[in-house]
Amino acid sequence: MKALICEAFGPIDNLTIKDVPSPVPGPRQVLVEVKSASVNFPDALMVQGLYQIKPPVPFSPGAEVAGVIKAIGSEVKRIAVGDKVIAMLGHGGFAQECIAESQMVMPLPEGMDFDTGAALVLTYCTSLHGLKSCGALKAGETLVVLGAAGGVGVAAIEIGKIMGARVIAAASSEEKLALCRKLGADETINYSTENLKDRIMELTGGKGADVVYDPVGGPYTEPALRALGWRGRLLVVGFAAGEIPKIAINLTLLKERSIVGVYWGDSVKHDPMGHLANLKQLNEWFAAGKIKPVVSERFTLDQGKEAITYIANRKVLGKIVIVP
Ligand SMILES: NC(=O)c1ccc[n+]([C@@H]2O[C@H](COP(=O)([O-])OP(=O)(O)OC[C@H]3O[C@@H](n4cnc5c(N)ncnc54)[C@H](OP(=O)(O)O)[C@@H]3O)[C@@H](O)[C@H]2O)c1
Repeated sequence: MKALICEAFGPIDNLTIKDVPSPVPGPRQVLVEVKSASVNFPDALMVQGLYQIKPPVPFSPGAEVAGVIKAIGSEVKRIAVGDKVIAMLGHGGFAQECIAESQMVMPLPEGMDFDTGAALVLTYCTSLHGLKSCGALKAGETLVVLGAAGGVGVAAIEIGKIMGARVIAAASSEEKLALCRKLGADETINYSTENLKDRIMELTGGKGADVVYDPVGGPYTEPALRALGWRGRLLVVGFAAGEIPKIAINLTLLKERSIVGVYWGDSVKHDPMGHLANLKQLNEWFAAGKIKPVVSERFTLDQGKEAITYIANRKVLGKIVIVP
């Protein structure tokens, strides 16, 4: 089978397509025939050796896939060959077949296609966990989403609206902001051309926002923090801009603001039941047509490194997938 392989941490351009033997599942594992694999920002960091998790090389990137079960391990009970599934992997998904731990596999919900299944879990679970458990977002509050047209940003707009917030979407281009409005954002800010803090203050009538969802970092975090109102919460989700901001903590004393980290992957280990409840909630919202993951482009496996370069270069609207 063909797989996109990282032989040594380094530039994305060094990734190669190789013919490798079909993997064999262990007793509690399954073999998935990959129909669609979504590209996430951490894939770009991982192959460069810049992510907090560094798999032993060689490895295939690709953290989440949707596909069909091709084989199961001897101890696997609730999954059968032929089942359509979503699988969370960590890595290994940019390949025609991949191995998944059976407890990280769930049925593809009724009526969901493979691309949507591959694009749903990581971003929507992160944003639901972030807004609900870390941000305690309440109906009627104002939520500012940075990087709002990206993977977790799109999910935060949709979930923020469902939770009853007024959503201000901030992104770097008019094309990205048009997508945010289409998804339900009430207001938009182009932070390439407008002053982020001033515009948030203006749009909140001088009161400041209640919650900022920040997957971008870099130059945007501090102005967004300064635009939080009384007891506002800054949710630290990621640093897609590449720079981890250093913040003066007096900015929290003023207005009793909080800075709260969001780490979905670890939260699942600490609160597996809460995670299952969130998955159930997302399935219900999907079935009711309340969330619609945006898959803007599809790449072949041979175009895998172009797909990863595309996300690293800030070009993606919503999500992109690799279809092996
Ligand atoms: N904490 C968690 O549990 C968790 C879970 C999932 C993801 N994450 C992290 O969240 C971040 C975003 O993930 P994502 O999947 O939403 O990524 P994404 O789809 O690429 O979106 C990131 C957004 O960041 C903005 N950005 C600003 N400067 C950028 C730069 N120099 N390069 C690339 N993008 C830049 C872009 O929007 P504009 O062009 O509009 O600025 C882009 O749309 C990543 O750092 C990821 O590791 C964290």
